[in-house]
Amino acid sequence: MSRTRTSLLAALVLVAGASGAALTAAPAGAATSIPCTVDYKVQNQWDTGFTAAVTITNNAAAKSSWSLKWSYAGNQKVTSYWNTKLTQSGTAVTAGNETYNGTLATGGSVSFGFNGSYSGTNAVPTTFTLDGVTCNVDDGGSGGGGGGGGGGGTGTRVDNPYTGAKVYVNPEWSAKAAAEPGGSRVSNQPTGVWLDRIAAINGAGGGMGLRAHLDAALAQKGSGEEVVQLVVYDLPGRDCAALASNGELGPTEIDKYKTQFIDPIATILSDPKYASLRIVTTIEIDSLPNLVTNTGSRATATANCDTMLANGNYVKGVGYALAKLGAIPNVYNYLDAGHHGWLGWDDNFGAAANVFKQAATSEGATVDDVQGFITNTANYSALKEDNFTINDSVNGTSVRQSKWVDWNRYADELSFAQAFRNQLVSVGFNSNIGMLIDTSRNGWGGTARPTGPGPKTSVDTYVDGGRYDRRIHVGNWCNQSGAGLGERPQASPAAGIDAYVWMKPPGESDGSSSAIANDEGKGFDRMCDPTYTGNARNNNNMSGALPNAPLSGHWFSAQFQQLMQNAYPPLP
Ligand code: GLC
Repeated sequence: MSRTRTSLLAALVLVAGASGAALTAAPAGAATSIPCTVDYKVQNQWDTGFTAAVTITNNAAAKSSWSLKWSYAGNQKVTSYWNTKLTQSGTAVTAGNETYNGTLATGGSVSFGFNGSYSGTNAVPTTFTLDGVTCNVDDGGSGGGGGGGGGGGTGTRVDNPYTGAKVYVNPEWSAKAAAEPGGSRVSNQPTGVWLDRIAAINGAGGGMGLRAHLDAALAQKGSGEEVVQLVVYDLPGRDCAALASNGELGPTEIDKYKTQFIDPIATILSDPKYASLRIVTTIEIDSLPNLVTNTGSRATATANCDTMLANGNYVKGVGYALAKLGAIPNVYNYLDAGHHGWLGWDDNFGAAANVFKQAATSEGATVDDVQGFITNTANYSALKEDNFTINDSVNGTSVRQSKWVDWNRYADELSFAQAFRNQLVSVGFNSNIGMLIDTSRNGWGGTARPTGPGPKTSVDTYVDGGRYDRRIHVGNWCNQSGAGLGERPQASPAAGIDAYVWMKPPGESDGSSSAIANDEGKGFDRMCDPTYTGNARNNNNMSGALPNAPLSGHWFSAQFQQLMQNAYPPLP
């Protein structure tokens, strides 16, 4: 399907290029009389719309700002754009630089993208002018004109991809955040790009597809290093212990997962054009831990998790993804490792590490395909509880016996991530693996944040009075009331930790608070209903969810406002 579409587009480009057949791309490096080349590619096209990527290569004097103009022969209308400030008047389009990508060296390139609508044919424009001067058109063929590339990219992985690198700001998330009152305080933060369905690869619902994101990342990169954070999230029988993030693939659809999801992603990521990016792939959130904690004779078992354990498709899918993506030299695989309020108990800790090892050595994968692990993705576990430690006791009773801790070995995410790293190394993962911690929503600031330890009346008063994490129960996971933005994304914040990241884009819902019909495979999980009194997995507590939430992944303005309000560290 998409293959047919690609060749159709290639034909269109050639037809358009044919009117200037003599204008083959300037040989790379030939700063000839052609002052600039423009590569205009339709990357994706459907009945009424399209996504295009434009790369300008400057062969003239260096510029500190630029403006590219073209006209459409048809009725194309640009509807949204990124890495450019773009205006359209009738058929005439003017695309200027953003504040951050105005610099264009001699021989340098810059890329931007946009979505547009059209009807009839969507012909590629034939003439472009850069600051009033007519450019050559690069027909996208093998002429190689300009070739992007840039720094880095030797093919050898660095130990920590975040070191010395900027991290990709997703323009789509950024625009939603910036549109919120006060949102510009955080809208320039990097967040994860979720490949949460097959359609996301080419751009679901007219949004940016994977290539559009990578092109935008190249534009943001400039001459430095750039990390792009992807979430690979479409396993068969996805989210087996809950309903809110059930996916499009049924429990047995492992072949479809491989050929229609992982393979096309791998094809795009291995395009040499993207070799200079450091591509962080976080693999299959909330999957493998379920095989340990929510199966068999456990009180928390679900039929769906038993099915996924029995058919092996979580293990196979993760193994396949690791092997395929790990074969690409500039991809860094981080496997999802739950969070302390899930795997921090003795029964789960070692067993989970073993399942990760099993998956990482299946379907052709090896431990060398794993650069690290991510914890707390889309969860709310506090990074560091300063007001008590797991070794404290009150009147001779250990904090581990408090209702909140309930025999867990860890009271916070940082101590868990560091200890779990050691466990993973001990079962055979490489000793230089690094951890990521998702701090997008674990800030727990605002006026209710405790300022010191609780009273030593009992372990419960002590822990409950002092803990930052104010959830009703550590098993609560949906749109938590009282949560705030956590530590801003940063590299190498603590021993063994490669970065704090915002993998879950703040403001995107965890699930709807009542049933909403949809075509995304998403179910209604009562853990997202504020009136729900719980189940075995949260020890039958209230859900603590915010009311009036939309479907998982959809924008939830009230939650975003609360997250900013309760940010810790606070926002300016
Ligand atoms: C949830 C949703 C998914 C979305 C992600 C990020 O897991 O199920 O569709 O992309 O959150 O917000």
